[in-house]
Amino acid sequence: MSIERTLSILKPNAVAKNAIGAIYARFESAGFTLVAAKMLHLTREQAEGFYAEHQGKPFFDGLVGFMISGPVMVQVLESENAVHRHRDIMGATNPANALAGTLRADYADSFTENAVHGSDSTESAAREIAYFFSDNEICPRTR
Ligand code: PPS
Repeated sequence: MSIERTLSILKPNAVAKNAIGAIYARFESAGFTLVAAKMLHLTREQAEGFYAEHQGKPFFDGLVGFMISGPVMVQVLESENAVHRHRDIMGATNPANALAGTLRADYADSFTENAVHGSDSTESAAREIAYFFSDNEICPRTR
């Protein structure tokens, strides 16, 4: 298994709960290495562009409205099998189905306000990382 990267977002409700440090500790305890991070208050254009593949779906406007309702933390996490491992610790998209101990079980407020985003494939991860970070903003560990 080779080292992978995934794009992770702490959504506005997670940031509003002052849970950034607690969630980052969970990432680090789970063996992820944080190689890039930034806080952003997304514009509508940025959020619509990020979720462009979902345009036209019934949840799209609500999702975009939520994602621009406050600041988010966007980070790149590195580990073996990072995409799937990050999705495992996030839990199910609908928090009603999220297993105990997952981030969504602990921090989601509703289906829309489900606390965290994670790339769903290595292809999506590459596109999503490039959406938010330039190459020189990603800092692989040297020690
Ligand atoms: S789909 O239609 O199967 O491709 O959608 P999915 O990949 O499951 O989810 C895409 C993003 O939309 C959010 N989502 C929703 N938000 C609110 N209400 C409903 N019903 C809903 N369904 C999906 C979901 O959280 C995904 O956002 P991210 O940021 O990836 O978590």
